[in-house]
Amino acid sequence: MGTIWMSPGARGGLLMLIISLMTVLMPSSAAAQTPEPFKAELVIRADQPQGTINHNIYGQFAEHLGRGIYEGLWVGENSPIPNTRGLRNDVVAALKNLSIPVLRWPGGCFADEYHWRDGLGPRDKRPQRLNTWWGGVLETNAFGTHEFMDLCEMIGADAYVAGNVGSGTQQELMEWIEYMTSDSNSTLANLRRQNGREKPWKVNYLAVGNEPWGCGGNMRPEYYADLFRRYSTFIKNYSGNNVQKFASGGPPSDYNWTEVLMSQAGKQMQGYSLHHYTLPTGNWGHKGSATEFGEEDWHKTLSATLRMDELISKHSAIMDKYDPQKKVGLIVDEWGTWYDSAPGKDMGALYQQNSLRDAVVAAINLNIFHQHSDRVQMTNIAQMINVLQAMILTDQEKMLLTPTYHVFEMYKVHQGATLIPTQLTAPEYRFGQASIPSLHASASRDKTGRLHLSIVNLDPNRAAQVTTRMAGATFKNITGRVLTAPAMNTINTFDKPDAVKPVPFTGFMTEGDQIMLTLPSKSVVVLEFQ
Ligand code: AHR
Repeated sequence: MGTIWMSPGARGGLLMLIISLMTVLMPSSAAAQTPEPFKAELVIRADQPQGTINHNIYGQFAEHLGRGIYEGLWVGENSPIPNTRGLRNDVVAALKNLSIPVLRWPGGCFADEYHWRDGLGPRDKRPQRLNTWWGGVLETNAFGTHEFMDLCEMIGADAYVAGNVGSGTQQELMEWIEYMTSDSNSTLANLRRQNGREKPWKVNYLAVGNEPWGCGGNMRPEYYADLFRRYSTFIKNYSGNNVQKFASGGPPSDYNWTEVLMSQAGKQMQGYSLHHYTLPTGNWGHKGSATEFGEEDWHKTLSATLRMDELISKHSAIMDKYDPQKKVGLIVDEWGTWYDSAPGKDMGALYQQNSLRDAVVAAINLNIFHQHSDRVQMTNIAQMINVLQAMILTDQEKMLLTPTYHVFEMYKVHQGATLIPTQLTAPEYRFGQASIPSLHASASRDKTGRLHLSIVNLDPNRAAQVTTRMAGATFKNITGRVLTAPAMNTINTFDKPDAVKPVPFTGFMTEGDQIMLTLPSKSVVVLEFQ
């Protein structure tokens, strides 16, 4: 067979033609491997509006732990990091953008060894204490009541103060409330004035201790119920302040603790707390990695976080027996992921990275809280900066927003809105023998009439095609945003801070009275109907 001579240019052209033909005729290997989307149906019951989603469900928690307060929030007035009265400007601006309704402080376990007078007056004169719960580090008390209240005012959040029951006295707690809230001429109110604050602050929420079953004093529920009654007797309302008193719940699934507290102190409390952390393995000795995980850990983590629904339902059922009118709020004042500390990082600092998986965990929990908004009146994710499932990570002067931050920002449209029920029909997402829902949704309607749908695709492999119908409402315009990433464990780093961030969502089209949504695998979508 003879050879046909071709110029180098012609040879190049032929090669390009062959490659183009192959691309058109043969599916690429990646396309061939992409699993078929699964199909689902969603009805948004705009015709059945329910109660209000309390804006406090979007609360945060900041404890004296690791680099949560010091460096994360407080750098001091003389720091080269730009700050206002010692609070770093970049972090404050990012927090303001979340519209945080309420901030819990100073702990956690730390609250039960915190003595508020330590945090007053000139900072160079404040006592240095050991933070025995969190690494035994030196607590300088540079961040005290005035600094906390200043932060709350800067970001527009209400103060939720956790009082010391474990190692304090009812007199100490009573006096702290007077110091903060009294407009009188009392010695304590005047001490506040001497320390630079003329007008009293409002303190709307007070925790009477923290985890009294464990770090708060290893108590039995009967003993704590009596202590709660005693402490709450001495917590007074001064100068028009109205403080709601919250009792601590027991370990997450200790239903007897709830029985005892509700039956013996239910009339004295306005809130009752629940803590539930999401551990991939469920084992405190080996919780699992924040970043090195595969699909099995992804599935287990989401399964563990979905347990929040069961915990709330069961505790609420007990609360309903003693408080059928739902006057006592369920306060989920610690929740979020808890992983093994990163290798080489200080174990006591509870610093962990935050991936797309954390975003999905946050979205699922917020949907659950919405669905229980008749009983859940406040939640506080643990914790705001540099600790556990944080919104923000810092490294000296650097700062990044985590995937969890973006979910809180996307979801803030639900704050104070009216819950709209959603009915989902979708296949289970299976891994091995275990199965969980593949989709998770909630919806609400705000005061201006806009309806927001939040929908999560838990399946890390398959997109979802969701045929959606709106019952009882019509809308002219739909817009949305989606948060996803190439991998389950994609994270934001100081070098690549925008690896996971929301982008406009275009995966929808209307067909008659139906909306066809195509949700990417492992994604969080928030849609707005106007
Ligand atoms: O958020 C970390 C710790 O977890 C808190 O200090 C404590 O209340 C809980 O056990």
